[in-house]
Amino acid sequence: MSDILKINERISIERVGDVALICIDNPPVNATGQAVRQGLQEAIEVLNADAQAQVIAIYAAGRTFVAGADIREFGKPPMPPALPDVFNVIEDSQTPVISVLHGTALGGGFELGLATHARIGIEGLRVGLPEINLGLLPGAGGTQRVPRLAGIPMALDMALSGRMVSAREALEKGLLDRVETGAPRDVALAAAAQVLAGTLPTRRTCDLATPKDDKALEDTAAMLRAKQAHLVAPHKIVEAVRAAYLPRTEGLAVERQAFIDCMQTPQRAGMIHAFFGERAVSNVAEAKGPARDIGKVGVIGGGTMGSGIATSCLLAGLDVVLVEVAPEGLQRGVDTITKNIDGAVSRGKLPADKRDGVLAALTPSLKMEDLGDVDLVIEAVFEQMDVKKDIFGRLDRICKPGAILASNTSYLDINEIATCTQRPQDVLGLHFFSPAHVMRLLEIVQGAGTAPDVLASGFALAKRLKKVGVLAQVCDGFIGNRILAHYSQTASYLVLDGAAPAQVDAALEAFGFAMGPHKVGDLAGLDIGWMTRKRKAATRNPAERYAGDVADRICENGWFGRKTGRGYYNYDGGAPVPNPQALEIIDAVRSEKGITPRAFSDEEIVDRYMTAMIAEAARVVEDGTAKRPVDVDMVFVFGYGFPRYRGGPLHYADTLGARELVARIQRYAQEDAQYWQVPALLQQMAETGKTFADLNKEG
Ligand code: 3HC
Repeated sequence: MSDILKINERISIERVGDVALICIDNPPVNATGQAVRQGLQEAIEVLNADAQAQVIAIYAAGRTFVAGADIREFGKPPMPPALPDVFNVIEDSQTPVISVLHGTALGGGFELGLATHARIGIEGLRVGLPEINLGLLPGAGGTQRVPRLAGIPMALDMALSGRMVSAREALEKGLLDRVETGAPRDVALAAAAQVLAGTLPTRRTCDLATPKDDKALEDTAAMLRAKQAHLVAPHKIVEAVRAAYLPRTEGLAVERQAFIDCMQTPQRAGMIHAFFGERAVSNVAEAKGPARDIGKVGVIGGGTMGSGIATSCLLAGLDVVLVEVAPEGLQRGVDTITKNIDGAVSRGKLPADKRDGVLAALTPSLKMEDLGDVDLVIEAVFEQMDVKKDIFGRLDRICKPGAILASNTSYLDINEIATCTQRPQDVLGLHFFSPAHVMRLLEIVQGAGTAPDVLASGFALAKRLKKVGVLAQVCDGFIGNRILAHYSQTASYLVLDGAAPAQVDAALEAFGFAMGPHKVGDLAGLDIGWMTRKRKAATRNPAERYAGDVADRICENGWFGRKTGRGYYNYDGGAPVPNPQALEIIDAVRSEKGITPRAFSDEEIVDRYMTAMIAEAARVVEDGTAKRPVDVDMVFVFGYGFPRYRGGPLHYADTLGARELVARIQRYAQEDAQYWQVPALLQQMAETGKTFADLNKEG
């Protein structure tokens, strides 16, 4: 016999004899919002006052145990009871409390488990402390209870990496007491019976002492000072874990203060913007309609890009036909894909026993006719309109009706490409970023005639490939490369006017970019930009100051960056060092142009570069190339190494304010009124006080 008492709309108690089950039901991921916290505390208090309840078992309904605190509450006024207090009530319960975790028990969800007196994981469970990815630290006892159960190194590892830990590993490390199979409620009942029978021991985690390991703390603190000095949360994590030597109350107080400190940082706001932004980009009408089935994909081109795209599709379980024109090119493509797949195995992304099966799904071919039965073709040949048009004309004749025809072009006009087919409704752009099996961004480019189910299929593909799909409209460079083309000019102007390439790079790396623009250019190949500048030479606006002289001359020497060993930097093994001959070229260009070099502070470099990026980003939103500011932000976070903790260029723009940005542009325009123009949208925002966040809300 069982009866159910609803504490509130999220928490219920079910009595089964001497056992009391507490069920958390807060879809979609059972986050510990206010009602869950309140309900859990009340349920424990009710059951402690009830002599019949001999053991309490907490489990959750739905697809996962608790995935953490409710992130939507962050940054708002506190809504009691606080999570750590609720967990103390659970830990202090006189009646033994156990928990049954399934799915993903993350952050506050895992911390809930840690506060109970025994934890059972259901096979397939993954636990983790991912707060670091939100600019935070575990703030509900994680830094105090993990060290007691699994030691300081494991606590530091989990909290600093945010990685998911398998049920097996958690069991080995002492974070779980058992791993079982079955439905959470059944496992909870069985485990509760074992507690009653004395075969499942229970204890309070905070009664355990943290094993001493000062060396792990000191080594980690030193490593973080050297490598992550600019981030707040990692250092606070070490401080809080160190407090796990203290009694519970004092340790939790240190953790609480560290959590509050992190909560108040712009880094936390930036990272949470990125968390919701990653999900918001596919929350558009275009992603939601019915999609076409995609099981077999054709990839045309076995270069780095095509091979990366093919790898990504294979890793997602799709069949792939790789087409190249010459046997050597095809072999090179197959070799690159094999190397990529082997890399995925060695990095633990693909189980070793799956490797051969994944590679067997690849069919190399020298004949485009072999694409007759694929559901989607992604063309990834070099950027030349007539070549692409020829390919699309042939695909139109070869591919089955309803097949989706995609170009991976990074800037060419999808509409012009579509004119070579009788089916513009099936054509769209799918712009991957190199290396395509690693980079998470996918720009989904809508042509004038693209059918709604083809666009929806682009989003479905992004999801299947575990990528972040962002909708973009046709223009030269779409969202990312168009903005890049604009702000790259600033980097070149800074060098022409007096800054050294290495200074520009260092200033922007200190701002948080993974790599400065000159290092990126060297890595991508300086010949790419050179080709683009030549392509655009005929249509260049003569009123615009030319930014390419230095790069052109570096390229004329055959120095294309890393792949030739020379570029802005020299690559003779070891770390890149500035190329002295590139510096001579810069000097020569300056004197030819009559420029007297001047000094730029690092701050001015960052200000000019970021202002240029924001200005073009504002124009991209203004003319509808991007639907919302958040779409631009996610393009940069997932495709261009933009520091996640700054949220993206337009989230960052809000921290400066439209007025300041307009004032800067007007100031810079005194030197170059052609390049520095105030976007109408930014001007309007400066006048009305509107922010990019407001525009995101308007959708
Ligand atoms: N709070 C609020 N909403 C959350 C949430 C959370 N902790 N976690 C997920 N959601 C929302 C998502 O925004 C999404 O909403 P939407 O449908 O409106 O877009 C919905 O739940 C489903 O999430 P996903 O699309 O991400 O679903 P997946 O199945 O792909 O992934 C997941 C599930 C692995 C749980 C993933 O959502 C995730 O990683 N969540 C965040 C986990 C996390 O960071 N937890 C720590 C929170 S901070 C904390 O706990 C502080 C504590 O120490 C005090």
